[in-house]
Amino acid sequence: MYSYKLKSNELVKKASKKFYIESYGCQMNFADSEVVASIISKEGYDSTENLSDADLILLNTCSIREKAEITVRKRLESFNKLKRNNKNLKVGVLGCMAERLKSKFLEEEKIVDLVVGPDAYKDIPNLLYEINEGRNAVNVILSKDETYGDISPIRLASNGVTAFVSITRGCDNMCTFCVVPFTRGRERSRDPKSILNEIKNLEKSNFKEVTLLGQNVDSYLWYGGGLKKNFKNASDLQKKTSISFAKLLALVAKTFPKIRIRFSTSNPQDMSLEVIKTMATYSNICNYIHLPVQSGSDNILKAMNRQHTRSEYISLIKQIRNLIPDCGISHDMISGFPNETEKDHRETLSLMNEVKYDFGYMFKYSERPGTLAAKKFQDNIPEKIKKNRLQEIIDLQQEHSKLRTEQYIGKVVEVLIEKESKKSNLYWAGRNQQNTVVVFPKNSHKLGDFVKVKIKECTSATLIGESIN
Ligand code: SAH
Ligand code: F3S
Repeated sequence: MYSYKLKSNELVKKASKKFYIESYGCQMNFADSEVVASIISKEGYDSTENLSDADLILLNTCSIREKAEITVRKRLESFNKLKRNNKNLKVGVLGCMAERLKSKFLEEEKIVDLVVGPDAYKDIPNLLYEINEGRNAVNVILSKDETYGDISPIRLASNGVTAFVSITRGCDNMCTFCVVPFTRGRERSRDPKSILNEIKNLEKSNFKEVTLLGQNVDSYLWYGGGLKKNFKNASDLQKKTSISFAKLLALVAKTFPKIRIRFSTSNPQDMSLEVIKTMATYSNICNYIHLPVQSGSDNILKAMNRQHTRSEYISLIKQIRNLIPDCGISHDMISGFPNETEKDHRETLSLMNEVKYDFGYMFKYSERPGTLAAKKFQDNIPEKIKKNRLQEIIDLQQEHSKLRTEQYIGKVVEVLIEKESKKSNLYWAGRNQQNTVVVFPKNSHKLGDFVKVKIKECTSATLIGESIN
């Protein structure tokens, strides 16, 4: 059933169709799903959180490890029954798996009608027309430009307090283990004007915190559009007026003094001193850096094509701690990369002992088809050893996390209230600047308030305290 209403000088279909979208993997996927929701809602679809109400089910998928792909395939299988009961139900896959597998997806998973890569979401209206005519539809073309700057995302499952804002797409770093450069294409940055505009709208809607997102945010560079790798051919004027990540951060911090600012993810080789200084200058930029290292061994770092050594990484950490003494720092670590020796693994543990991270995300190496590591090396560390090494890394991190959270006992931290605590509806939960979760009795505080909390107790992951204002 269609009705029509006039919007932006064009006829927009308004129908009672419903879409359901589920996101997997990185924060960028969650942010992209909000862009997709915006595009689809203009096609007359409303979002639903109820699978059985949906005319269109979309999975925004992740390829980073084999396990992520298996999870998506299992999820697709679980839709078979729904599709048998509703012949008009369409199923689409978006994101990195769509890009990696392309039309092969349609052969491998018969349930799938629609395959759309991360840069092709603007084509969804045409693709929906195709599938509603009974044809399968695929678009996995990668782009040279930032693709979605002009779209106002529809905030999905939002707490109304914190939001993601994409600032770069793609990655040129070519870490040998990583599939992202293949699924998300070359690096490009978004026009600062459209970034500021999106944040302005968020502020108007009462949001209190934004996380600037990119696979490699520190490599943000606006010189008028285009691929980052073409910057060397830019005109002198473009070079002179270009905006680096440090400049963008300062611009956002100055323009929105009441908004808390976070960013993710930083790659050690791309993080400049300027960025650290900017963080130290503006109190509304959170003192927290996610700084993946992957390994503490120079041999492994080299084989991974990480463009820094262990000692360069440690110098960077020292610089951060010098300029921002209370900075929270977290990591990503991979165990069992090809040819990783026991000595390499010990070096990872010793690096962790040196830095004592606040927390970390830790993984077993998973060979990804098409990556340089898959071509060059044999995935030769037995599963059992990968697993044992991972467990040692996790156990050590647990110790360090506890050490870090204990340092807060007796101190007062600033918390932005994001949601009710999972454990008790009498408590609020939020994070301090350093990104550690803090829970405390609600008293008269409201969602979205900034509250000073005195820390009384802790676990390795959570601070527990009481508000003092
Ligand atoms: N720059 C990205 C990194 C994406 S991948 C970002 O925005 O976070 C996130 C983490 O997954 C990586 O830092 C790495 O630790 C892990 N990872 C990536 N590829 C992997 C693989 N093939 N096997 C195991 N872990 C991997
Ligand atoms: Fe992947 Fe390395 Fe880029 S981990 S996303 S290739 S910085």
